[in-house]
Amino acid sequence: MSGEQSRTRRRLAVVTGGARGIGESIVTELVAANYRVAVIDVNAKAIARTRDSAAARSGSVVPVELSITDRGAVERELARLADDHGPICALVNNAGMTLPATFLDQTDEDWDRILAVNLTGAFIMAQVAARQMADAGAGAIVNISSVSAHGVRTGPPAYAAAKAGVEGLSRLMAVQLGPRGVRVNTVVVGTTATPWLLSKKSTAELDVMRESTLTGAIGEPGDVAKTVAFLCSDAAKHITGQLISVSGGQWMP
Ligand SMILES: NC(=O)c1ccc[n+]([C@@H]2O[C@H](COP(=O)([O-])OP(=O)(O)OC[C@H]3O[C@@H](n4cnc5c(N)ncnc54)[C@H](O)[C@@H]3O)[C@@H](O)[C@H]2O)c1
Repeated sequence: MSGEQSRTRRRLAVVTGGARGIGESIVTELVAANYRVAVIDVNAKAIARTRDSAAARSGSVVPVELSITDRGAVERELARLADDHGPICALVNNAGMTLPATFLDQTDEDWDRILAVNLTGAFIMAQVAARQMADAGAGAIVNISSVSAHGVRTGPPAYAAAKAGVEGLSRLMAVQLGPRGVRVNTVVVGTTATPWLLSKKSTAELDVMRESTLTGAIGEPGDVAKTVAFLCSDAAKHITGQLISVSGGQWMP
């Protein structure tokens, strides 16, 4: 296929937090499914790596450095992407962050930061992209949540609250956007062996994680990515408003 043909045939998907970890794997999977993928990330170093990749050079990946909490930048960049590549067909709200805390020592400052990225940022991205999708009468949104929203892993309360918020928001979006041709689903992710996690955890800690699943294995980024790609695809055209747990059974809906 010529470069020009590939440019005209690829539909546009947007993946937030797509420059590393699970997001990077989702980008790879969507490119393989013939999407052109806009990779949105706030991490300048990671986005520079994306910019240097063969996928970016061929035009199947479009790196965009911005914070999903910046509504002005999100509106500007998603409009520019649509002008350049056609309307957004799929959005994956994957960007997330957390900071360690227990319920008794959670600070207001960290609470606000975690809510701003994991919940408000996902809302801003979904609203701006969904306006394009609703106008086009088609689209798929996949929001990434965590088993932490269900009390499965201990972690900061702000993260659990933000991800629980994402799940409630997803259902509301599915109800209100369904009649406009937009499907919205949530992938509830369990412990997943990103390069960062593997570099930070000891063998003993990884063993405990393995034992917390029914499969006896820690998830791989590709496990999440394949599910996301399915939910974006026409094979999932009758699936909306669902929570899908990709956690080796750490959490069962
Ligand atoms: N890895 C796990 O075990 C696990 C488990 C449950 C849920 N999750 C969820 O999966 C998603 C991906 O996690 P990961 O482990 O790959 O994390 P990661 O930290 O490796 O990647 C997250 C990416 O999001 C980007 N990001 C953070 N804030 C942003 C912002 N304001 N604007 C744009 N980009 C921003 C980061 O720069 C980073 O590239 C997150 O939503 C996370 O909560 C991960």
